[in-house]
Amino acid sequence: MNYKKHILITGGAGFIGSHLTILLVKKYPQYSIINLDKLTYAGNLENLKPIENKPNYQFIKGDICDNEFLEGLFEKYQFDGIFHLAAESHVDRSIDSPNEFAFANVIGTLNLLNQCRKYWKENYVDKLFYHISTDEVYGSLGDTGLFTETTPYDPRSPYSASKASSDHFVRAFFHTYGLPVVISNCSNNYGPLQFPEKLIPLMINNLLKNKQLPVYGDGKNVRDWLYVGDHVEAMDVIFHNGIAGETYNIGGDNEMQNIELVHLLCDLTDGLLNREKGHGRKLIKFVKDRPGHDRRYAIDASKIKNELNWHPKTNSSEGFRKTVEWYLNNQEWLKKVTSGQYRDYYQRFYEA
Ligand code: NAD
Ligand code: DAU
Repeated sequence: MNYKKHILITGGAGFIGSHLTILLVKKYPQYSIINLDKLTYAGNLENLKPIENKPNYQFIKGDICDNEFLEGLFEKYQFDGIFHLAAESHVDRSIDSPNEFAFANVIGTLNLLNQCRKYWKENYVDKLFYHISTDEVYGSLGDTGLFTETTPYDPRSPYSASKASSDHFVRAFFHTYGLPVVISNCSNNYGPLQFPEKLIPLMINNLLKNKQLPVYGDGKNVRDWLYVGDHVEAMDVIFHNGIAGETYNIGGDNEMQNIELVHLLCDLTDGLLNREKGHGRKLIKFVKDRPGHDRRYAIDASKIKNELNWHPKTNSSEGFRKTVEWYLNNQEWLKKVTSGQYRDYYQRFYEA
């Protein structure tokens, strides 16, 4: 088949990457889509079951830090567009091992930029490197104010420092070499398929097991929650209609204190499992705060709304409810992910 575009998605076996890959493979049968993922602990190929046999989809296991491997890949597939999501993504892990975050997030991104430059050879018509970044690069807000695209960078964790650094390299390639790039900085995502180290699936998993619910510090840190399906739709819009060299903030207009959110998850879980009212909340335990814990994130998403006509479709009470329902209905998935059994899938499907 003569495909209209050859697209590379990095990190397509992760949480957001798998939602994006499924959306694009189904929506664009005229695109050939390669999912490149190292399959770290966060990569789970089972997430991609709905599309694994589609003719326009291919999975390739590989590391964006391995330049030799990337050379061969770019030479073979001559990509027109890259959605770059592969990264170490968990703040708590970055506090334990900052170097891993610098390698994967900074050097990995730089390697991909170099490959694009090399293979596109300044023929940039219909080419795009799309870097998926985070609102954490802007630092921490006080009680008021919102992050805009021009808010100065002020990363405060090794994770956000690595993402900020990769954003700077992406912009440097635009200014220095004219490489067509676009960046989006998004707030906290939630939904099905998220690894249960992140707040929402961790709390639901612990609720299921009647384990304590560890709330960091006073629980009053604020995050702006966006349903993952809305984020990947924004990415589709940015890739197709965004302007090279621009940055777009993506958010859910949905600020909540962590403790409010944990209460909501407790109440939803109690209701859906027919447990006594208040059962879940009794499991809450305030624990030692995360070092350098950013107090508040909140996004001004007016640029993407006004210029690209994107806005979140999922209202938060519907989004949180369907997310809790998904984890409760997919306890086998949670079990496999927490036991490590999901790692067998690559061997069974790709090496059998
Ligand atoms: P995730 O941890 O669930 O998935 C990351 C994926 O990248 C995994 O499949 C992993 O195997 C892969 N990967 C890691 N290192 C790799 C390497 N060296 N080579 C190839 N693949 C590698 O992350 P996520 O939550 O889906 O986030 C995806 C991207 O979106 C990240 O860049 C993150 O910074 C960004 N982001 C996430 C959120 C959020 O709330 N989760 C919000 C804004 C931005
Ligand atoms: O803002 C976007 C970012 O959101 C992404 O770039 C990151 O990849 C993603 O992990 C997420 O970062 P956070 O640190 O905000 O997410 P996390 O789920 O780890 O924590 C959300 C909030 O909940 C945060 O204030 C810390 C708190 N928390 C977290 C955990 C895991 C707890 O109180 N208890 C917990 O056990």
